[in-house]
Amino acid sequence: MSQRTFSIIKPDAVRKGFTGAILAEIEKAGFQIVSIKKQSISKKEAEGFYAVHSARPFFDSLTTFMSSGPIVLMVLEKENAIADLRNLMGATNPANAEEGTIRKKFAGSIEENAIHGSDAPETAAFEIGYWFAGHELV
Ligand code: PPS
Repeated sequence: MSQRTFSIIKPDAVRKGFTGAILAEIEKAGFQIVSIKKQSISKKEAEGFYAVHSARPFFDSLTTFMSSGPIVLMVLEKENAIADLRNLMGATNPANAEEGTIRKKFAGSIEENAIHGSDAPETAAFEIGYWFAGHELV
C-alpha cells in the first residue's frame, strides 16, 4: 500500500548545490513528490520540529545548523516509503553509510548529513503536519 513520508534536504547539501542530484536519486528510487518547498526556518521552528531530541547533547548544535540556511522540505510517496527512504539515505553518520546511499555520496559529517527522513508512521504524520497545510498536499 502506498505510504507517505517526510524529508528535508539539509542546509549543507543545499549550500553545496546538491539539491537537484538528491531529488534525482529520490525520483530514480520510485518516490512521487507530493509536495515540495524551499525555505529558511527559524531556530524556534527547528526546536519544535526536533522536540523529541531536546535532551540530546547535540540539540542546540543541530537546531542552530538546521536554521543556518535554506532547506528543501518534501512529502514523498511510494509503497513502503518510510523504510525505503531511510535505506536510500544511509546511516546517520556518513562514515558508516553504505555505497550508493545519499549520505555516502553527499554528506560531510554526522551533523552535516545532507538529508532527513521520518523514522516511523507516527513521526511522518507529525512531521508532515508540522510543515505542510492540507491544501499543499496534492
Ligand atoms: S543517533 O545518534 O543515531 O541515535 O541519532 P538519531 O536519533 O538518528 O538522530 C537524530 C537527529 O540528530 C542528528 N544527529 C546529530 N546532529 C548533530 N550532532 C550529532 N552528533 C548528531 N547525532 C545525530 C541526526 O542527523 C538526526 O537528524 P535527522 O534530521 O532526524 O536526520
